[in-house]
Amino acid sequence: MPLLNIKDLKVYYTGHGLFRKQSVTRAVDGVSLFVREHETLGLVGESGSGKSTLGRASLLLIKPTGGSIEFDGTDMVDAAGHKDKSVLKKFRREAQIVFQDPYGSLNPRMKAGRIIADPLRVHGVKDRRVVKDKVLKLLDLVGLPASAYDKYPFAFSGGQRQRISIARALSIGPRFIVADEPVSSLDISIQAQLLNLFREIQEKEGVSYLFISHDLRTVAFIAHRIAVMYLGRIMELAPKTELIARPLHPYTKLLLSSIPSKDRRSTEQREKAGGHGTGCVFYPRCDFAKDICMGVSPELKEVSPWHSVACYLY
Ligand SMILES: Nc1ncnc2c1ncn2[C@@H]1O[C@H](COP(=O)(O)OP(=O)(O)O)[C@@H](O)[C@H]1O
Ligand SMILES: [Mg+2]
Repeated sequence: MPLLNIKDLKVYYTGHGLFRKQSVTRAVDGVSLFVREHETLGLVGESGSGKSTLGRASLLLIKPTGGSIEFDGTDMVDAAGHKDKSVLKKFRREAQIVFQDPYGSLNPRMKAGRIIADPLRVHGVKDRRVVKDKVLKLLDLVGLPASAYDKYPFAFSGGQRQRISIARALSIGPRFIVADEPVSSLDISIQAQLLNLFREIQEKEGVSYLFISHDLRTVAFIAHRIAVMYLGRIMELAPKTELIARPLHPYTKLLLSSIPSKDRRSTEQREKAGGHGTGCVFYPRCDFAKDICMGVSPELKEVSPWHSVACYLY
């Protein structure tokens, strides 16, 4: 049984578009995927693909419009609706998030020691000595000196701050962590160090990651399997080496062939495609599009063992 098993997840945002028409953004539109224990599933796609929305919804930080999120065999969407919140509370302990921005996500008025200890307090660990001991161990685990305990966030570099974020996410002993572009704002050399840290932590603590990045190289370094997302849908999903060696989807090939432009096109295309939008979301950019691609969106289908693609070419 996978640790996290998402089925047909939908997250729609309703807003007001031009001319007071109600506009609906289908940020996540029927996504199914799973993450096994001790596994890293990489999630890659351009800005605006819905990666963050998927990551947050899978932790129930955003309420899904539809679908189910099973964690350790129990549907958490269901559990969130129950009066008895004990199952959800356990989930909140066992599933954590690390954000991209190590500046914005740390309270500047709290010392690192307290920031890292915060989840412990929230979840009822009161003994001060126990808490401090645990925090010192965590500082060591993420490669920070014990002296970091009494320093404020401004005293640290970007990479060090991200180590504090990681320590905070680990403090309560989670089994699953969503890492949403956790190295994207850092220098390349620091990125490599942090990626290695994520790996080490996985080896030592046995956590699973949903590791999100717009950069395929980053994801390829850390993930066991990779899911490629575009405009709310999973285009392709395969083990890392398989995906890199034999990419099938035209969008995956595009990501592999180019350093993906941080483009705004995806949003424009969404608007163009919006309204009718029954066909393949990649259709407007695809060099191989056929008539059917415009009409009906292809399902994600397994074309060889462990390799799935949502494309009529296969
Ligand atoms: N809170 C929100 N309200 C309305 N639309 C949103 C909100 N958050 C994200 N979106 C839209 O949902 C789509 C997916 O966004 P996001 O999940 O942030 O993608 P990514 O992380 O891949 O860049 C985008 O079109 C974005 O504009
Ligand atoms: Mg994002």
